[in-house]
Amino acid sequence: MGKDVIIACDFAGKREALEFLDLFTDEKPYVKIGMELFYAEGPEIVREIKRRGHKIFLDLKLHDIPNTVMKAMSVLSKLDVDMCNVHAGGTIAMMEAAIRGLTRQDGTRPLLIAVTQLTSTDQEKMASDLLIEKPLADVVMHYAKNAKAAGLDGVVCSPLEAGMVHKVCGSSFLTVTPGVRFAGGESGDQARITTPARAKEIGSDYIVVGRPITGDADPVAAYRRCVLEFVD
Ligand code: C5P
Repeated sequence: MGKDVIIACDFAGKREALEFLDLFTDEKPYVKIGMELFYAEGPEIVREIKRRGHKIFLDLKLHDIPNTVMKAMSVLSKLDVDMCNVHAGGTIAMMEAAIRGLTRQDGTRPLLIAVTQLTSTDQEKMASDLLIEKPLADVVMHYAKNAKAAGLDGVVCSPLEAGMVHKVCGSSFLTVTPGVRFAGGESGDQARITTPARAKEIGSDYIVVGRPITGDADPVAAYRRCVLEFVD
């Protein structure tokens, strides 16, 4: 599986998202549609961006009882996305239900990955807010193993954890990593961050990059810089 840069299209609505994608005349970046855009525009925005020829990671991070997640995933399976996700914190049973729901009658399904710990969470917040006292890396690896046991294709984690996830779950188990910033850039609310070049060295399969591209005065140049550092 080739490495790729996924742009987090965190926009308020269709107009902003499509205006942004119109900037890309020479390439068709892999696009992540998250809660903001999906809740604002509904499934039609997914179909529209797909029609324009982009691969789509639908990042809705499902986390509910297994039956509810199974039914929701079965609805999402009808949207022709390439990747979607759940929270590993929903348990192995929930992740197994998610796969069942996502799998179409003909046996095909989008890639399914699990969020381990959000990249905005650090050791201190995990201990104080979630009462999880174990080292953060151990928690991420445990969640990754659960996701693999449930039959998922990979995890969302910090790029800093990608190498260890591959060691624990195998090199073909995907690591999709947000929390990417250019050297010297703003970190925003992300806590466990690194650069595209370093993410490549550690072994991320996909980096998810939002504000460093969408907030740049020249988003196409920022995207190309990511591709140059991470893929080429
Ligand atoms: O703007 P920024 O580069 O921080 O965007 C990162 C994107 O990845 C956001 O859309 C965020 O919701 C998502 N994400 C994350 N951490 C996770 C899972 C998803 O930051 N663990």
